[in-house]
Amino acid sequence: MNKRAVVILFIVGLVSVSFLVPEENKVLKFNYPESWPKPVYDFESNPLTQAKIDLGRKLFYDPILSKDNMISCASCHLSYTAFTHVDHALSHGVGDSIGVRNSMSLVNMAWSKHFMWDGAVNNLDVQALAPISNEDEMGENIVSVIQKLQDNNEYPALFSKAFGDTVISSQNLLRAIAQFELTFISANSKYDKVMRGEDQFTEQEARGYAFFKDKCASCHKEPLFTNGEFENNGLEIDPSLYDLGRFGITHRSLDSLKFKTPSLRNVEFSQPYMHDGRFTSLHEVMNHYSEGIHYSKTVSKHIGRGIALTEDNRVDVVAFMLTLTDKDFLFNQDLSFPRK
Ligand code: HEC
Ligand code: HEC
Repeated sequence: MNKRAVVILFIVGLVSVSFLVPEENKVLKFNYPESWPKPVYDFESNPLTQAKIDLGRKLFYDPILSKDNMISCASCHLSYTAFTHVDHALSHGVGDSIGVRNSMSLVNMAWSKHFMWDGAVNNLDVQALAPISNEDEMGENIVSVIQKLQDNNEYPALFSKAFGDTVISSQNLLRAIAQFELTFISANSKYDKVMRGEDQFTEQEARGYAFFKDKCASCHKEPLFTNGEFENNGLEIDPSLYDLGRFGITHRSLDSLKFKTPSLRNVEFSQPYMHDGRFTSLHEVMNHYSEGIHYSKTVSKHIGRGIALTEDNRVDVVAFMLTLTDKDFLFNQDLSFPRK
């Protein structure tokens, strides 16, 4: 065969191989609004495919990951409440055990560089190990989870479809869950529509937004509504929990009482609020910022001894925060309990 024929055959080969890749295994592009910052997640190390996302979704909703086969990730992270739980301040796990913190809302995870209220985890690809093994959450160990999945009549085939291997590994389990979580993108609230010029704020929302940009956005930074950092927003320590936040990880005094700034997207639905769920309404949160600040050395300079808010300011800022509700996200059928 001459050289030319070899080259042509090679190209024909490549083209036909790419046609043979099933749709569900093709690498997907991660889509997000153009005006947003670049995600921090390393997609090259875990390229998105529909088969992996679907597997992650099934796992996220499956109580098989817990010791008593009763608790799934979704028990504490419900899609229609912005992936947090709402009925209680501290999370409830296996055997009705009560955790020490409020569940977090899971939104725009691809932009997060720290996970958990104190940043105990720094990579989404390993995060799921924490709830699986936490005694007050799923109370299970990864070896036993893998065994249960391997013995299951559906999972070996699904892992094979997604990763080309019927032998289930913890790395692939964690990667699949991470892929599903990466699809939790909330970018279509009224706020987003106003920013795109498709809608308008009411006068009250516009006043709230102006106040918010002035006093709140240094930490709840647009467009994600978090700066991704740890901050002390002046909550008085709860003596029964004695939670020092970031200090527990770094043991540096300047981190005492600092917690990850939560995104405020869909905050209308993520009550109760704060790391221990101490406030049940946004009005209570406003009262906290205005006259509830417990001053200590690590309180942010943006808060000081309090952010003075008149009664009108409070109502306006709450009206603005309600524009962060994204119904397309909350009721997205691709994120809810898988029906098939
Ligand atoms: C019993 C309730 C409970 C269960 C079950 C649970 N979580 Fe959580 N989740 C929490 C709590 C509480 C936190 C905050 C933990 C902390 O700060 O120490 C959290 C935090 C997270 C975070 C960090 C979010 C951020 O922005 O930093 C992710 C991601 C997460 N959970 C995913 C999962 C996954 C995946 C599962 C299933 C494998 C799961 N969770 C199961 C209660 C739960
Ligand atoms: C210095 C940074 C900072 C500033 C300024 C700030 N916040 Fe926060 N905010 C935080 C942190 C950190 C938390 C979580 C604290 C915790 O749970 O320990 C939080 C929590 C919240 C929550 C609860 C969210 C949830 O899901 O639990 C709301 C609502 C909120 N802030 C609104 C505001 C508003 C409105 C303003 C302006 C009046 C404001 N914040 C100013 C850092 C800040």
